[in-house]
Amino acid sequence: MTDGICGGRVVAVTGAGRGLGRAHALAFAAEGARVVVNDLGVGLDGTPGGAGSPAEEVAAEIRAAGGEAAVHAGDIATADGAATLVATALETFGRLDALVNNAGFLRDRMLVNLDEDDWDAVMRVHLKGHFLPLKHAAAHWRAEAKAGRTVAARVVNTSSGAGLLGSVGQGNYSAAKAGILGLTVVAAAEMGRYGVQVNAIAPAARTRMTEEAFAQTMAAPEEGGFDAMAPENVSPLVVWLGSDASAGVTGRVFEAEAGRITVMEGWRPGPTADKGARWSPREAGEAAQKLLAEAEPPGAVYGAS
Ligand SMILES: NC(=O)c1ccc[n+]([C@@H]2O[C@H](COP(=O)([O-])OP(=O)(O)OC[C@H]3O[C@@H](n4cnc5c(N)ncnc54)[C@H](O)[C@@H]3O)[C@@H](O)[C@H]2O)c1
Repeated sequence: MTDGICGGRVVAVTGAGRGLGRAHALAFAAEGARVVVNDLGVGLDGTPGGAGSPAEEVAAEIRAAGGEAAVHAGDIATADGAATLVATALETFGRLDALVNNAGFLRDRMLVNLDEDDWDAVMRVHLKGHFLPLKHAAAHWRAEAKAGRTVAARVVNTSSGAGLLGSVGQGNYSAAKAGILGLTVVAAAEMGRYGVQVNAIAPAARTRMTEEAFAQTMAAPEEGGFDAMAPENVSPLVVWLGSDASAGVTGRVFEAEAGRITVMEGWRPGPTADKGARWSPREAGEAAQKLLAEAEPPGAVYGAS
């Protein structure tokens, strides 16, 4: 399996025991990558999921199809879990070429009902769970570059429409996913000199995270045809971003859903006014109202009535 666009590359995918991560891991293997399949095997809200990791099953699927896979069952939001994820790639396959940060879970509540624990757990798994593997992988790639070896490394982070536009009942998740966008552009700017590209996706697909909450949108077609919301539809873009073939693409955010890929264009200055001196509050308000009348209205927050 070396004639695909990832032949010879080693890729680590977090949260790859189920859903989108599983689809990414299988798609990378189908394109010739050797894959480190990470999953802690937790419940939908992050509670411990019992014995064994679903990563074992995905690694077995990759091997059954003739590919190579290693299992890492650690918690990627801990320093030890992130360090051993990178070490598993290096010790098993001798290299690491791409990291897909994907693991996560939800604790949805309206803000007034959101406990501190639910805030912390979601910020931790998504935001810290992106930062720590990124940091450990980046340290490896910087050392490689400093040793004079050519690095063509890739990181694909996982944001969400909730991070781009906001989502009612998901204040913790939306904040974490928006934070991942900030982390992505900074990592891209810092790591480019070492040959590391960092991009983010905002996916939508039918997984245990969405199949009940958005049952109608996510349903598979009853009479065959294109299964638009299958997680496998998101993976081709992720595989390309993780490959050598995406050279020159960094610091970008893509929505990926069904058969559609969209480049997201982020915050940029809109209408502006400069008095050249300090405004009074009344004047500032009048100026702001004029500018708002000229500006594009923001996209609707998901779930807002
Ligand atoms: N499904 C969607 O439509 C959708 C939309 C936007 C964003 N996302 C994001 O995509 C990613 C994948 O979600 P999914 O829908 O496939 O969900 P999923 O629940 O099917 O898969 C997530 C996996 O992450 C694992 N995991 C959780 N915490 C972990 C940790 N600390 N260490 C290692 N593994 C851990 C879980 O065990 C699980 O197998 C998430 O970041 C999610 O927020 C999904």
